[in-house]
Amino acid sequence: MKRRTFLTTLGSLPLIGLNMGWANAAAGGMPAMNMDAATVKLAAVEALGAGTAISDIIKLANTSGQPGLFRASLIAAPVNLPLLPGTPTEFWAYNGSLPGPLIEVIEGDTVEILFENRLPQATTVHWHGLPVPAEQDGSPLNPVAPGGKRLYRFSLPVGSAGTYWYHPHPHDNTPEQVYRGLAGIFIVRAKIDLLKDIPERLLVISDLKLGADGRIAPNDANDEMNGREGQFALVNAQRQPLLQFDRSGRERWRIWNANSARYLRLVLPDAGLTLVGTDGGLLEHPVTGLAELLLAPAERVEIIVDAGTNKGRVALVAAPYQRGKMGIVPAEKALNLLTVDFSKVAGAPQKPLPATLRRIDDMGSPKAKKRIVFSEKMSMAGGQHSVKFMINGKQFDMNRIDLESRVGQVDLWEIANESDMDHPFHIHGTQFQVIEHESDGKVTPAPYRAWRDTVNLKSREIVRIKLAHHFKGIYMFHCHVLEHEGAGMMGQLKVV
Ligand code: C2O
Ligand code: CU
Ligand code: CU
Repeated sequence: MKRRTFLTTLGSLPLIGLNMGWANAAAGGMPAMNMDAATVKLAAVEALGAGTAISDIIKLANTSGQPGLFRASLIAAPVNLPLLPGTPTEFWAYNGSLPGPLIEVIEGDTVEILFENRLPQATTVHWHGLPVPAEQDGSPLNPVAPGGKRLYRFSLPVGSAGTYWYHPHPHDNTPEQVYRGLAGIFIVRAKIDLLKDIPERLLVISDLKLGADGRIAPNDANDEMNGREGQFALVNAQRQPLLQFDRSGRERWRIWNANSARYLRLVLPDAGLTLVGTDGGLLEHPVTGLAELLLAPAERVEIIVDAGTNKGRVALVAAPYQRGKMGIVPAEKALNLLTVDFSKVAGAPQKPLPATLRRIDDMGSPKAKKRIVFSEKMSMAGGQHSVKFMINGKQFDMNRIDLESRVGQVDLWEIANESDMDHPFHIHGTQFQVIEHESDGKVTPAPYRAWRDTVNLKSREIVRIKLAHHFKGIYMFHCHVLEHEGAGMMGQLKVV
């Protein structure tokens, strides 16, 4: 099995201090490491035009004609798009579109997707967050060979309305396939949605690291260690698009952090931000007055945005966030994601939102407990410096089952981050409820009940969650910094 451990040659590095975190070690004056051996010259940020009207996401057409059945096909294939003058950029995309087309269904629907792989590598389509049977989950266990086809089929139960996505998940090449453009969005609509009259926006934020030669740049050593962050954070595949805010002064935004590794600490000055939903759908009660919102890689939210006192143009900013990157990295800086133009807002005061959006029951007392630990370890084996990312001291092994649970049974999972970097925990096939966070011995209960499939862990933090699986089979759990997942920060749960 190919190990995707990060390797860099380190001729003269003294062995002392290797058990320190790299961030600390670097601050303590260790020799600078050659972190950019594989670095290519990147395109200037201004090389991509900004300020064009934000595009809608293309919808995948339902060809079934039968109520309750969504049927369509998806093809993963290379596509050339003109980004820089003179040199087309080869992306890999679903049905040629970036981001991949929106699959929109209603809870209770059955979904049939005929998938075709026209990539030069094996791939899968993983239905991130959806409660699907293990063999339909598009995990690394069920690859589709180059030139191959397969049918994905699953039913989405009532209660599963929420904001999901799909992306490749083959054994070795997930980071590459995603950074080449493969990721699409999936919305399960509720039969009854109290917010359905508010105009909705879909904002898919994705990473692009583009070489000056017009090619998508490969990962360098720093990307392999800290997770890839290109020079662009695109919204609906556009650089800093312009969003003409609805005249009514209120919009509902669904936001996807589809980045490989970039965290999004979202700030929209002077607007009213209200959190109404997470990965797995609406909250019980709106959470008003958010000053900012942190979205770890793979997380989604639904928010209600009120124009507030805004009259002109305001940037939605990803503010600097410290996530404990290792090695010598540039200082974090704010990124403008898009420009919101409030000038057309007619100014009528907004009605209060419904106080209750839906019911989320507590999952009840857990029957068993599991503990997993995220760690990273440096070694100098064979004179090569390497960083290993591990769960419970081990790197991923497809031939090993790490944990076992019983179908339908609620378990308490304690996830501890014993490393120096943030890591977003994600598990396949279900949604969980966060019970509490613990940091420095201080326990903070979750402020509200919500369904999620991804939760961030800061360095040295512990998070406790309750979860249950709906089907027997093997499901992955991992860090959703894709380079960490690719380097082995993943395990397998067998549901019996
Ligand atoms: Cu988006 Cu295994 O995950
Ligand atoms: Cu997933
Ligand atoms: Cu990680």
